Amino acid sequence: MRHKHNNDISLLLCLSLLTLLPLLAKCDEHQKPYIVYFGGHSGDKTPAQILETHHSYLTSVKETEEEAKASLIYSYKHSINGFAASLTPEQASQLNELDEVVSVIESRPRKYKPHTTRSWEFAGLNEAATYNPQVSNRFDTEKSFMAEDLLHKAGYGKDVIVGILDSGIWPEARSFSDEGLEPIPKTWKGICQTGQDFSSSHCNKKIIGARYYLKGFERHFGPLNATSDYRSARDKDGHGTHVASIAAGRQVQNASAFGGFARGTASGGAPLARLAVYKVCWPTPGQEKTMGNTCGQEDMLAAMDDAIADGVHVISISIGSDDLLSHMEDGISIGAFHALERNVVVACSAGNSGPTPATLSNAAPWIMTVGASSVDRAFLGRLVLGNGKMITGQTVTPYTLPERLPLIYAADAALPWVPKNETDQCLPNSLSPEKVKGKIVLCIRGTTFRVLKGMEVKRAGGAGFILGNSAEFGDAVYLEPHVLPTTALGYNDTNEVINYIKSNKDNATASLAEPETVFGNGPAPFMAGFTSRGPNVIHPSILKPDITAPGLNILAAWSEASPPSKVSEDHRVVSYNFDSGTSMSCPHVAGLAALIKAIHPTWSSAAIRSAIMTTASVKNKKGEAITDQSGDKATPFEFGSGHFRPSRAADPGLVYDASYGDYLLYLCSYGLRNADKRFECPEVLPPTYDLNYPSVSVPKLNGSATVRRTVTNVGGAGKAAYFFGGKPPPGLTVEARPSVLYFSRVGEKKSFELRVTVRNRTAAEGNFRGGYGFGWYAWRDDYHVVRSPIAVSLG
Ligand SMILES: *[C@@H]1O[C@H](CO)[C@@H](O)[C@H](O)[C@H]1NC(C)=O
Ligand SMILES: *[C@@H]1O[C@H](CO)[C@@H](O)[C@H](O)[C@H]1NC(C)=O
Ligand SMILES: *[C@@H]1O[C@H](CO)[C@@H](O)[C@H](O)[C@H]1NC(C)=O
Ligand SMILES: *[C@@H]1O[C@H](CO)[C@@H](O)[C@H](O)[C@H]1NC(C)=O
Ligand SMILES: *[C@@H]1O[C@H](CO)[C@@H](O)[C@H](O)[C@H]1NC(C)=O
Ligand SMILES: *[C@@H]1O[C@H](CO)[C@@H](O)[C@H](O)[C@H]1NC(C)=O
Ligand SMILES: *[C@@H]1O[C@H](CO)[C@@H](O)[C@H](O)[C@H]1NC(C)=O
Repeated sequence: MRHKHNNDISLLLCLSLLTLLPLLAKCDEHQKPYIVYFGGHSGDKTPAQILETHHSYLTSVKETEEEAKASLIYSYKHSINGFAASLTPEQASQLNELDEVVSVIESRPRKYKPHTTRSWEFAGLNEAATYNPQVSNRFDTEKSFMAEDLLHKAGYGKDVIVGILDSGIWPEARSFSDEGLEPIPKTWKGICQTGQDFSSSHCNKKIIGARYYLKGFERHFGPLNATSDYRSARDKDGHGTHVASIAAGRQVQNASAFGGFARGTASGGAPLARLAVYKVCWPTPGQEKTMGNTCGQEDMLAAMDDAIADGVHVISISIGSDDLLSHMEDGISIGAFHALERNVVVACSAGNSGPTPATLSNAAPWIMTVGASSVDRAFLGRLVLGNGKMITGQTVTPYTLPERLPLIYAADAALPWVPKNETDQCLPNSLSPEKVKGKIVLCIRGTTFRVLKGMEVKRAGGAGFILGNSAEFGDAVYLEPHVLPTTALGYNDTNEVINYIKSNKDNATASLAEPETVFGNGPAPFMAGFTSRGPNVIHPSILKPDITAPGLNILAAWSEASPPSKVSEDHRVVSYNFDSGTSMSCPHVAGLAALIKAIHPTWSSAAIRSAIMTTASVKNKKGEAITDQSGDKATPFEFGSGHFRPSRAADPGLVYDASYGDYLLYLCSYGLRNADKRFECPEVLPPTYDLNYPSVSVPKLNGSATVRRTVTNVGGAGKAAYFFGGKPPPGLTVEARPSVLYFSRVGEKKSFELRVTVRNRTAAEGNFRGGYGFGWYAWRDDYHVVRSPIAVSLG
């Protein structure tokens, strides 16, 4: 062990504390889980030797060998070299002094959570997700969202293994049946870990592996609450089951949510691909009611280390941190870096912190970062007022109220004790049964779960329920499993209903027409308001997100141990459910990556990502520019290269490939020289924007910059000529040298330079949005358009 500096002050500090405070436990109390990361393994040690080495590092900072052993949480042995252990801050900084230590990360599991929107719904918290009621799409459920031709060519993904890091799985879901599947691929090296309510028979030829990781979680929070989750890979939350079935669920006929509504075929992206489940997310103590989940960094790293060794081809991670962590502080980024070394594709959710700029997580260049957009399916719930006026809301509640019933505003039906500002909220026990019995009640969004408002109306004897938006939510409504006949309205419609009630005080009536599922009524896809935005704070020279995919109101399998509304008052059991978030869009892309892997088994993870990105679409189904939640033209900071286009992605023509060495070189330029000890950084470093990425980001451009790229010909014909074209950001020019690329064979590489120049700074400054200008360039032959977005800020 070589010390960076000889410095034992930290140890002395702890010892002196000990002499002041007589209890040995006092020093222990300051211990927290840390991850000590050494980069990769050199490959010359057995697992036992690795463990011994990790122990010796711990022994060097701990009092006794027993203490060292007891402090170890995980020893990462496969591709990630490091360990997780309980350390005092002093011991952590002591280890960080060592030359061979790349980083020491304080594991902060509270900051990692699944990327669904649902958990934001608790009392008073802002309901940040937005949804335009007129729109949605069938990329997800009614048919497979994948092109039939692609599925066929890929054998529906039958030889590909998709790893899911999440809250586990509900193995009985029809989506995970192994009926008719071929034997498990011979490359599989993983296990089926048994545990509570999960026996080896719960794995099959579909769910070929299952493991769970709890050690880090329990170091932070103490023993798992036995009533709040299964001590096994079984999913009590629903999120993991949902995500797994989106990526690789079977095609299930006649799937429906909530008693027959939204019936259709549910299918994952790669319906015959195999699933390997790694449960890393557990219910956060104290948040049982909202079913908040926490995923420990050390647990996720252990899962990724195992997944890579088990032989997964694609990993889908719908988890992120609200804090934007730098690469060496971020367990997902580190794990994904080692996955890249083994050519495993990693797709991650971008996060749900939009529409605020610079909120994007999972931003590393070796991760495929996925934003969320709509589908083009809508579930219309029409309200007919007594005056004949029809108002169209949305619902997925399968009940109707064809008869006219009295209509009342909750504010006129609240019990006397309810505070003035909360009378319209339908909070628990706030409505007068006398006043609402047999009526349709209008409640306003704001405080508490929306589903609980409907429950309150039902408790008080109401017959139906209208959920109206307040001004801050505009027209964005959610599809949710309400417990009685319902429709959800935007703000203007809500006002209209209030005005109608006010002018017909005791005579207001309404009926609810039969809900109707419609397709293609609106500009789909559009970007979800909640999807996290660029610019990329952690890696400014890498444009993120990479891609967008469906993430709004997605129907997929669910845990039967989790109520569809995820509120504990709800006791219903469903096998399919709607959920929203970048959590849902990420596995769409993972599923597509699995199919491309099946068709092109030798492609690198960078080539697969390039294929998905350069074939994406920036237009909606009407042929117009994809818009954001407010109707403005969306930018690459929202959708990256655009909306994924499965039908095109297997035949991109050219790919921007990158090897492990290319990423190491990037890290040298980025300022991290010791990511892999076998790699020496050159003296002259290329700019970070020279990483061979399928999009271009030039931060702080002053004058001009030359960006280097290399494309590989993967078109079927071999002989090809590609011509340059594009649209520069306002006030800039973008030129390619050469501007024609000739290829004579498949696999041939051609390099080119893109010269990005500020031509008119005034025009640039006047037309940039939030300090950034966007453009694109593309290489075209007769069949392919290989398109890349460009983002520039001025220095
Ligand atoms: C355990 O979980 C249940 C519900 O899931 C909750 O009601 C209870 O308070 C939790 N107990 C502890 C000690 O956290
Ligand atoms: C579809 O499922 C419902 C129950 O959810 C059942 O009543 C119906 O018969 C099924 N239809 C078909 C065609 O299998
Ligand atoms: C109503 O006012 C009280 C006291 O000012 C406040 O605590 C509460 O959050 C308000 N409720 C709503 C729905 O704004
Ligand atoms: C809502 O009403 C306001 C005021 O009449 C109007 O400016 C706005 O465009 C309306 N919004 C929608 C989505 O119709
Ligand atoms: C309600 O209807 C009754 C009887 O039809 C009528 O007398 C009364 O004026 C109506 N009230 C309002 C506020 O429209
Ligand atoms: C630069 O752009 C500004 C604003 O678009 C325009 O008024 C001006 O004429 C341009 N200057 C040159 C030299 O093209
Ligand atoms: C931009 O470049 C010019 C000359 O090349 C230099 O004078 C100026 O200070 C630079 N501006 C910034 C912000 O770096």
